Amino acid sequence: MVKLSPSIFGADFGRLNEQIKAVEDCNVEMLHIDVMDGNYVPNIAFGPDQIAMLRPHTDLFFDVHMMVTEPDRYIERIVKAGAQMITVHAEATTHLHRSLMLIKSFGVKCGVVLNPATPPDVLKYVLDDIDMVLVMTVNPGGGGGAFNPTMIEKVREIKEMIGDRDIDIQVDGGVNADNVKSLVDAGANVIVAGSFAFTGDVAKNLDDLRKAADA
Ligand code: DX5
Ligand code: ZN
Repeated sequence: MVKLSPSIFGADFGRLNEQIKAVEDCNVEMLHIDVMDGNYVPNIAFGPDQIAMLRPHTDLFFDVHMMVTEPDRYIERIVKAGAQMITVHAEATTHLHRSLMLIKSFGVKCGVVLNPATPPDVLKYVLDDIDMVLVMTVNPGGGGGAFNPTMIEKVREIKEMIGDRDIDIQVDGGVNADNVKSLVDAGANVIVAGSFAFTGDVAKNLDDLRKAADA
């Protein structure tokens, strides 16, 4: 059984509350929240204050994806805003292990994000410290990008590295009902979808995505 984590970045912000209710009604397991600093990625989105504003409106698990240079500067504020899982990009922090320990010190789950060109080797010595690996299936920084099929093999490689450890593999970027199965077959079990989830009928889209993933 996969877990779905719709990416709020893909929502219609003029109807944010309604869109959050729509994903809640689909019994999704998480809400994916992208934090972008305009430095690590060429775009700006959601900071701790906006996450804190969302928190009273939903009980969904907040899966926060930090696309931020030196994320340690914001981790405590993001935890206090209501994050339950925080993922950081391997190359965005000078000391990856230290960042992961900082996240865990607040009692929230932690994960490492790999860009399409980032090899999985960087995970080798932190595998016993993490709850999730996020494999980017597009270059980070925007929604609606084209899925990179080369990442299917990368997911497979990471699944093998993980062995019997209890670590989720999340995929993010260009994921839809047509390509999700190939990712799940390779080992992904947490599915992020932005534009696919929020374009048109949210309930139908998420139903299609879950059916395709669990087929
Ligand atoms: C991209 C973000 C994604 C984004 C995905 O940098 O990390 O979470 O919202 O959007 P889609 O699914 O449209 O590629
Ligand atoms: Zn994301």
